[in-house]
Amino acid sequence: MSPFLLTRTLPLDATDAALRADVLSGLTRHPKTLPPKWFYDAHGSDLFEEITRLAEYYPTRAEREILIAHSADIAAASGARTLIELGSGSSEKTRHLLDALPGLHTYVPVDVSESALKGAAEALLAERPGLSVHALIADFTHALDLPDSPGPRLVAFLGGTLGNLLPQERAEFLKSVRARLVPGDSLLLGTDLVKDEATLVAAYDDAAGVTAAFNKNVLTVVDRELGADFQLDDFDHVAVWDPEHEWIEMRLRSRRAQTVKIRELDLEVSFEEGEELRTEVSAKFRKEGVRDELAAAGLRLAQWWTDSAGRFALSLATAD
Ligand code: SAH
Ligand code: AVI
Repeated sequence: MSPFLLTRTLPLDATDAALRADVLSGLTRHPKTLPPKWFYDAHGSDLFEEITRLAEYYPTRAEREILIAHSADIAAASGARTLIELGSGSSEKTRHLLDALPGLHTYVPVDVSESALKGAAEALLAERPGLSVHALIADFTHALDLPDSPGPRLVAFLGGTLGNLLPQERAEFLKSVRARLVPGDSLLLGTDLVKDEATLVAAYDDAAGVTAAFNKNVLTVVDRELGADFQLDDFDHVAVWDPEHEWIEMRLRSRRAQTVKIRELDLEVSFEEGEELRTEVSAKFRKEGVRDELAAAGLRLAQWWTDSAGRFALSLATAD
């Protein structure tokens, strides 16, 4: 097998159709919403990497600490020969797992961001020329055409990205992951944990404004791809903690009453002054909730590790 294969399971026109459908349905409802997967064009992926290095954004450092401490345990428990990583981004933290898996045959990073996948594969192969990488440009909430590589399989879903799905989407997603596993396979899941509001809000509203730029990037994507005329300066970045749902919401608040034209959809969208468009939820978890959501999907929580400050958790779940 060639050491690096990049497969697009989403044709470009399907991506375009999905964006159109999401923008049409999300901006014509009240309250207005857009799904977070549209943040991640090449610039959005770069901005996310910048976020991971911010002092306020603790999840990446916390999860890396757990991976450094427990990759050997994960390797021993999973015995993985194929590592499939959903929403892999830069694959930066994944190196700890790759180093710990002696019998690894194939690494399958899956992401909607082509630029992130290419950057990750280039960097990984420069360091590990023997590694077989089969990258998939795909939406992990859709059926995945996984390569025919040997088991056991370990599916990794890191970074807390599960929290960016709504509860119903999470339940469907976990069931679809379970359906792809056979006994002996496992799921490694990263989840950010409930904590004090000030720490959470700061992580999503950093002083340097990088998260604000990341949030507004979704407007740039809609302007470019659908010929819209959103002006970034007409919106403010907002991050609020919702204690009932135990999630952070990122929103874009219209600074004035305005009408935005979306040429490719032949659509005009009006915003009132102060009206908010929800662009992301980032749910925070507790151990019981993770265990119950896994169990509802037919997965058994086998191991639970947190960082030393108890901010973030990695779970290893099995498909028995
Ligand atoms: N796992 C990495 C990156 C997290 S950022 C980390 O822990 O640092 C979230 C990643 O998921 C981005 O790279 C984004 O492009 C990808 N992503 C978001 N929604 C997706 C979807 N529906 N399907 C596939 N990838 C998605
Ligand atoms: C990818 N995901 C887990 C990030 C999060 O923390 O919810 C995305 C993000 N949004 C704002 N900052 C980072």
